[in-house]
Amino acid sequence: MARLPPGPGFGALQAARYVADPYTLLREAARRYGDVFTIRTARRCVMTGRPDLVRQIFGAPVDQYGVNTEIGPRRVLGENGMAQLAGRALRRDRRLLVPNFQGDVLARQGGMMRDAVREVTDRWQPGDEFVLREASLEIALDVILRTVFGADTPRQRADFDAALRDFVLAFGRPSFLLLSALRVEWNWLPPFRRFAVARARLEALLREAIARARSEGAGRGDTLGHLVAARYEDGNGMSEAALIDNLITTIVAGHETSAVSLTWAIHWLHSTPHALARLLEELAPLGPDPAPEALGKLTYLDAVVREVLRLWPAVTDVNRVLAKPMTLGGYEIPPGITVAAASAILHYDPAIFPEPEVFRPERFLERSYAPWEYFPFGGGERMCPGAQFSMFELKVLLGTLLARCRFSLLQPGVPPLKRVGFLVSPAAGVPVRYEGRR
Ligand code: HEM
Repeated sequence: MARLPPGPGFGALQAARYVADPYTLLREAARRYGDVFTIRTARRCVMTGRPDLVRQIFGAPVDQYGVNTEIGPRRVLGENGMAQLAGRALRRDRRLLVPNFQGDVLARQGGMMRDAVREVTDRWQPGDEFVLREASLEIALDVILRTVFGADTPRQRADFDAALRDFVLAFGRPSFLLLSALRVEWNWLPPFRRFAVARARLEALLREAIARARSEGAGRGDTLGHLVAARYEDGNGMSEAALIDNLITTIVAGHETSAVSLTWAIHWLHSTPHALARLLEELAPLGPDPAPEALGKLTYLDAVVREVLRLWPAVTDVNRVLAKPMTLGGYEIPPGITVAAASAILHYDPAIFPEPEVFRPERFLERSYAPWEYFPFGGGERMCPGAQFSMFELKVLLGTLLARCRFSLLQPGVPPLKRVGFLVSPAAGVPVRYEGRR
């Protein structure tokens, strides 16, 4: 059997620590075991935070990696979407999918993003206290529903919202997660039956949305309209089953990530007065209701978003399952093992990011970083298809919020972390007081 790099031993405690706070576990392991180490949870994963090795992982040939065959992700994301593709088939589908989250499509969606913020903030009264993570989740979900699905009536959004909440609750249950991690395939068990009902309800709504988009065409401006009109080189469109699974993957991958990043951004800005002051100075000439395109061009706002994603990359380690052997950092890693580029380690490398624990957006104005030094959206063939979308979205959401609202933090200081759903976020969700209009 091949000798994998050293690392902390397997144990329930190890897996629990990885689930609760991967940021700390990964940095501690890197300090103890060096540049390349193995984490043993339900799978064996060879991790690295060394730039040249990250470059090697992202730059590997197209047939180097396979798909993640773990039963949990397959159940949640489905069998027919990009999550179950690798190599040339993945390339082919991404060529169809990714342009619909970029460029001109995006430019037309800024207004929808701004409307999502307006609708939520218009309900707030000065003195209201609430958990920012909840408000951010509501806004980010609304953004996905409007921009991706064209759910533009309150009724359509309410239907989707209810179905999505059930779906997310069903796969977030500890019993579902535990049984899936144990590779249990008995679909008659209650957690899987409940999940199947929730997914079927969501699928039915997506089928209706696809039919609406097919009859209305790409002119309506949302991503789904473009997606149903898109064609492979052979002239065929994507099958309905693939569309449904890709849309579900987009919802799962695309709303909590943005919500947690927005929550961290407000937290850090209100904990770093000079950074907030500089950002407000940049926003001031745009008035209380800035145009989304103008927000997209602000350089300090851009640096703030990048710094938030450096300090707390929503995905701490970007994983690839080997289909072929790979020599990484002097170790021969066999097929079936996962290799991972750990942003949670590299983003804190003081040689690249001096004073890495400090929130300092200016670092992104002073120099640029290679894609193997800074990679909040992953890299290579599988890089997040929503990267451009999210950067623009976070700038529009944060800029719109701060141009119109004043907040104060109810729990200052560095918050403890907790895994909620797929991601790790501030345990209390950043409680704030809304102080009124700016
Ligand atoms: C702050 C926001 C976000 C962050 C930090 C983020 C980060 C990531 C990362 C690190 C990956 C893995 C990439 C890799 O393996 O190289 C990923 C995958 C993915 N992301 Fe994002 N993402 C964000 C928002 C979004 C949004 C808004 C969408 C859709 C509109 C989206 C859609 C996806 C999809 C579909 C995948 C799976 C790709 C695959 O399996 O091949 N993400 N994301």
